[in-house]
Amino acid sequence: MTRKHDGATLTERAWPLAVHGAKPIQHYGAVARLPIALDASVCATSVENLNQLLADTMTLRDLYKKHHWQVSGPTFYQLHLLFDKHFNEQSQLVDAIAERIQSLGGVSIAMAYDVAEMTLIPRPPRDRDEVSVQIARLLHAHEIVLKETRAMARQAAEAGDDGTNDLLVSDVIRTNELQVWFVAEHLGDTPLVAREG
Ligand SMILES: [Fe+2]
Repeated sequence: MTRKHDGATLTERAWPLAVHGAKPIQHYGAVARLPIALDASVCATSVENLNQLLADTMTLRDLYKKHHWQVSGPTFYQLHLLFDKHFNEQSQLVDAIAERIQSLGGVSIAMAYDVAEMTLIPRPPRDRDEVSVQIARLLHAHEIVLKETRAMARQAAEAGDDGTNDLLVSDVIRTNELQVWFVAEHLGDTPLVAREG
């Protein structure tokens, strides 16, 4: 039995928009002023850039899990493990980017609906693809992320937002470049067993 409290049931109280007419404490796109010695316009630009990068990093993260589950063939085991390792590293980047947005006074996107609307990475089919197609799709996504991140890093450096620049260069760019190397090497045509004579 649901108890009554202030005239509303607990179920009703858990539905804040209906019961309280709750307003957000900060609208998406608004930037709160924090004492971090950066101009509001600099924070706003970095927040906007980082939200785009967040949408693309969340997409790349999920692309790795899709391929972790759907991979096949003689390299199944090593790619199954590698894709999950990269998924976890991208997850750490997602958290770092989102918390940087909040540190700048912004509001980070979070939900799949928003990611789907914003990301620049093409939507993959629900179908299961062979390894070479999986790898091509991952490398294309990495290149989109790297291209935009380098531009954002330069913009942050020129604006004096060193913290954002450092996150973009030290974490996002370096992690993505390393992952590209590990994935791209699977396209090498060296046979698994060399024949002599
Ligand atoms: Fe798994």
